[in-house]
Amino acid sequence: MKIKKTYTFAFWSSFYITFFTSIILFILTYSFSNILIKPTYILFYLVVVFVFTFLIIQYRLEKFIFQRIKKIYNSVSLLDSSDFNKTPITSDVETLSKEVQKFAELKQQQIRSLTLREGYRREFLGNISHELKTPLFTVQGYLLTLADGAINDKKISQKYLERANKGVDRLIEIVRDLDLISKLESADLDLNKQSFNIIELIQNVFDLLEMKAKKRNISLFFDKHYEYPIMVIGDIKRIEQVLTNLLVNSIKYGKINGVTLVSVEHFKKDKIIVKITDNGEGIKKEHRARLFERFYRVDQSRSREQGGSGLGLSIVKHIIEAHNEQIFVKSKFKKGSEFSFTLEKLEKI
Ligand SMILES: Nc1ncnc2c1ncn2[C@@H]1O[C@H](COP(=O)(O)OP(=O)(O)OP(=O)(O)O)[C@@H](O)[C@H]1O
Ligand SMILES: [Mg+2]
Repeated sequence: MKIKKTYTFAFWSSFYITFFTSIILFILTYSFSNILIKPTYILFYLVVVFVFTFLIIQYRLEKFIFQRIKKIYNSVSLLDSSDFNKTPITSDVETLSKEVQKFAELKQQQIRSLTLREGYRREFLGNISHELKTPLFTVQGYLLTLADGAINDKKISQKYLERANKGVDRLIEIVRDLDLISKLESADLDLNKQSFNIIELIQNVFDLLEMKAKKRNISLFFDKHYEYPIMVIGDIKRIEQVLTNLLVNSIKYGKINGVTLVSVEHFKKDKIIVKITDNGEGIKKEHRARLFERFYRVDQSRSREQGGSGLGLSIVKHIIEAHNEQIFVKSKFKKGSEFSFTLEKLEKI
């Protein structure tokens, strides 16, 4: 163990004091030679002086440093009293400076993450207003044209009203997605877990999306015939949303006349994995890491044409993470993509 700095300080101080008092003592005994002191007494005296000065200096020093350091602790802890009060106050300067350093680093880290978050927030707000602007201006455009006289032409007014309504639908869709995301992020969305047959759910989503798929002549299939139900545990409404978002993507970014295949496979001991594979445009590697970010789109113009705002995958990720499950993406540019997620099995198969 290293000797504390304060001990060394006290040791040398008392050493000097003892040394000088012994010189004075010698001078005194020699000049007044009539006083005779035995050398053992002198030695005893010196030892006593040394020990006492050492103890007094050490005690005073600790008290002094302790008081000063306590002041530092108090003023630093003003910033965040909860952090520092946990650690006991020390009178060792080295430990203190290490702790202050640690404290400063922590604060710096916090500031850095706050700045980052502030950046995200700004970007997010910018994205929202940008996303809302397009449909809003569309609606406004049609309404103004109607107000300018187009309303008198029955055929045109009908058409324009329908288009304006489409813009409103789009706005509602974005607001609904944002609402869901904010709920998922603030974690006040309670999962309503239950057991259900995943095969049946996938079939239902297939049926719901049939019209949409037909428009691009894309077929939605299982990879094989699933004879028996596969029971899983999860929030059925949320998982339906996940399947819908992934399947809609496979339709939107799949190639015309293409095929989307869904498979349900065994994954680890008590999990299954649902894979959704398309033979569409694929995603380049550099985009894959950011795919699940809010508003992230690979190709702005193409997604816009498909009416996407880049929230779909972000919602998917939130839901899967809320289930404590995993999501994976594999893709080959121009060849196709495979999105997959895991779910808890009801019974071990
Ligand atoms: N199956 C896929 N094949 C190719 N690219 C895809 C696929 N799925 C997603 N992407 C790319 O990832 C981007 C983000 O997808 P996401 O679902 O989050 O947003 P979106 O489909 O553009 O809009 P939204 O789902 O909110 O309507 C898409 O814009 C698209 O470029
Ligand atoms: Mg999408």
